[in-house]
Amino acid sequence: MNLTIIGTGYVGLVSGTCFAEMGNTVTCIDVDEKKIDNLKNGIIPIYEPGLEPMVKRNVANKTLHFSTQLSKNLEKCDIAFIAVGTPMGEDGSADLKYVLQVAKEIGQHMQHSLIVVDKSTVPVGTADKVRETIKQQLDERKLDIDFHVVSNPEFLKEGDAISDFMKPDRVVVGADDEAATRKMRNLYSPFFRSSTDRLITMDVRSAEMTKYVANAMLATKISFMNEIANICELVGADVNKVRIGIGSDSRIGYSFIYPGSGYGGSCFPKDVKALKKTAQEHGYAARIIGSVEDVNNDQKFVIANKVVSRFGEDLKGKTFAVWGLAFKPQTDDMREAPAIYIIKDLVERGASIKAYDPKAMDEAKHFYLKDVPNVTYCNSKYETLNGSDAMILLTEWKEFRSPDFEELKQQLNQPIIFDGRNQYNDEIMEEYGFEYFQIGKK
Ligand code: UDX
Repeated sequence: MNLTIIGTGYVGLVSGTCFAEMGNTVTCIDVDEKKIDNLKNGIIPIYEPGLEPMVKRNVANKTLHFSTQLSKNLEKCDIAFIAVGTPMGEDGSADLKYVLQVAKEIGQHMQHSLIVVDKSTVPVGTADKVRETIKQQLDERKLDIDFHVVSNPEFLKEGDAISDFMKPDRVVVGADDEAATRKMRNLYSPFFRSSTDRLITMDVRSAEMTKYVANAMLATKISFMNEIANICELVGADVNKVRIGIGSDSRIGYSFIYPGSGYGGSCFPKDVKALKKTAQEHGYAARIIGSVEDVNNDQKFVIANKVVSRFGEDLKGKTFAVWGLAFKPQTDDMREAPAIYIIKDLVERGASIKAYDPKAMDEAKHFYLKDVPNVTYCNSKYETLNGSDAMILLTEWKEFRSPDFEELKQQLNQPIIFDGRNQYNDEIMEEYGFEYFQIGKK
């Protein structure tokens, strides 16, 4: 099929590249000329394992193209995907200005029957707005062209984006037209090796809702577990043991019940807030969803509070080695990363920071911690240690899992570790003589 993907952010770029890999002819469109030029030359704006070689391979095979020209590409396209950003508006709702701008351009330029797919995470009712916007443009052009707006939310995770897309648990398609559903099924069937059972079809509004509910449910598991971790500490229980105890119940399961310094990233914080806002707009106060957000906001400070309990409110003259800045491993993404909040809090109290992250240091330096003083960026995890009063682990990169603890002990002023992701074994910590602070265990 001939596909146009509008927006070369995480979702657009990964989807476009994977569709091309499956043999479709794909053009990814973006208004950012520099980004498009870079992509044509195989320069990828994000770090995502496996993405760069796949982009290069498909550009070389001429199955993947990049362009700033939407109108020209719509001429030969079967399906147009809207994959532009839906940033959080000031009131917490998802801002649809980019989505509707793209819809307007589609309406201004389409010449033949088309399926328009909402791939961006958009609130319930957006497909109707996209349809109205396109229709309005067609009316102005006095054209009567058949088109369908389909909701096809994306569930990929950063760091695993390629495998999530190539081997999806499920693909949700919300459509009100059988032919459009059939076309979407044809597009996705090569991604399901043996059957097409994992393509779930439904009405458009339910599909739009499914994306928010999936993210809110996962965020709920995390916040619930973080709350349990805080209670465990108070009552003298160990959340690591409790986690295993409950996860073994197949009704509960092990995934997404890891306590930590709170969830971050581009999806959970934004989508939880937007779902709460949607409910509110319909006169419903979403209590559980609101609490999920409140617990997460507080959880980001749990590690900083432990540092303060150990070293006092005034951290002048103290230096901390921070391991990990990204909101999770295998990405350079720092959006809503707990590290931002924790580092700012410690620096405001007078501390200096020596930070290391395998991928996210440029993001931190040039953007997220740009205006934060007293942060030094180091070339390796060990370089952060010399002269530091404690090590603080904030992202569970594999390279932090089994470090040379002897070296840590030698280099740090005192053998103290604050672990925001519960990575280390208590017995090993005791053996080496570390003062070890973790989440959910005193
Ligand atoms: C998420 C969804 O998983 C994905 O389906 C959706 O399309 C986009 O949002 P992503 O933001 O890439 O993906 O990250 P994910 O791996 O889900 O982790 C989100 C956050 O939750 C991270 O900050 C992570 O550290 C945290 N987390 C996850 C926990 O604190 N505990 C857990 O048990 C799992």
